Amino acid sequence: MSKRHFETDAVRTQLEHSPFLEHSSPLYLTSSFVFEDAEDMRASFTEEKERNIYSRFTNPNTSEFVDKICKLEDAEAGYAFATGMSAVFSTFAALLNSGDHIVSARSVFGSTHALFTTYLPKWNIETSYFKVDEVDRIESLIQPNTKILYAETPTNPAVDILDLELLGKIAKKNKLLLVIDNCFATPYLQNPIQFGADLVIHSATKLIDGQGRVLGGVTVGRADLIREIYLFSRNTGPALSPFNAWVLSKSLETLAVRVDRHCDNALKVAEFLESHANVTQVKYPFLKSHPQYEIAKKQMKQGGNIVAFEIKGGIEAGRKFLNTIKLCSLSANLGDTRTIVTHPASTTHSKLSEEDRLEVGITDGLVRISVGLEHVEDVIADLKQALH
Ligand SMILES: Cc1ncc(COP(=O)(O)O)c(C=O)c1O
Repeated sequence: MSKRHFETDAVRTQLEHSPFLEHSSPLYLTSSFVFEDAEDMRASFTEEKERNIYSRFTNPNTSEFVDKICKLEDAEAGYAFATGMSAVFSTFAALLNSGDHIVSARSVFGSTHALFTTYLPKWNIETSYFKVDEVDRIESLIQPNTKILYAETPTNPAVDILDLELLGKIAKKNKLLLVIDNCFATPYLQNPIQFGADLVIHSATKLIDGQGRVLGGVTVGRADLIREIYLFSRNTGPALSPFNAWVLSKSLETLAVRVDRHCDNALKVAEFLESHANVTQVKYPFLKSHPQYEIAKKQMKQGGNIVAFEIKGGIEAGRKFLNTIKLCSLSANLGDTRTIVTHPASTTHSKLSEEDRLEVGITDGLVRISVGLEHVEDVIADLKQALH
């Protein structure tokens, strides 16, 4: 049979039926599973039998969620986590040893940056950074102890794009593991494994849930690496709850239709902003004016739901914009049905010096919009009144 389409895998990858022959997968809200006898228990613990033992290790609902993400990312194996950050942390903690080194893009999610600068150095793991427009410097940062090349694309919050094919080639040539945080694109818009990534991480809290309800994370990729991550996680306990896995697996059934609409709306919002007199720059991967438009077109199916723009008037104008918004939400999340606006310089990144903010592309007037699923004309009307 020919390879099934994304939408079909997202809907039809499902647990085996229980004796009740339910149509929709049930919720297995249980901490542990029972054994038939001592021999069954022994063989289960030595992994001679593949079966559920305890929900910190595996659970049918987390397995269904992981199986779906593996199919959608074309990955061999995966493990699901309580949050995106536990996926990021456990991936590094499982694969790195004291003395190892990471080369990473400078623009990474704030907590990932904190992991690199504050926590991993406690275990003698250091990170060197390249800016998104300095990919030609990557090879000069590689040391004999470098093990991982890490990036997000599109980046948060500046919506820059990194060339996955190029990163894949550099990783292969230098025998590094390429780890990509694919959160902004979702498996529907971009599949980093296709370009040579060894592992792909998602914060499922964002577009995968898509409705602002639950936290979750997942790492998928090479089976030998996932095995290490699984053993680390089985002992240290960052597992996704069965309830959240059930919610997220259901959400994946509608990912393609939701993300299609998110992208249509985001492109319209980006075009509106580009024509507005109080906006100096708009960054959206599928706008021709985006500095990495050609790369975005090569590796993404559509541009995603995040639009960044520069409001005239810097920090004060950004603050005023947030205070004038009526329909859109001021919230720390993204990838929700509800459109969310943030102004990093006066909120999430206000403790950073201006110089440090600029390093990661956060200018004083940068506004990030996570475009939702309201009617786009209502979103645009709200932005229009707030920009005056
Ligand atoms: C790109 C990216 N990676 C990871 C995370 C962390 O995910 P979580 O909040 O689920 O821990 C986020 C959260 O915003 C993110 O935007």
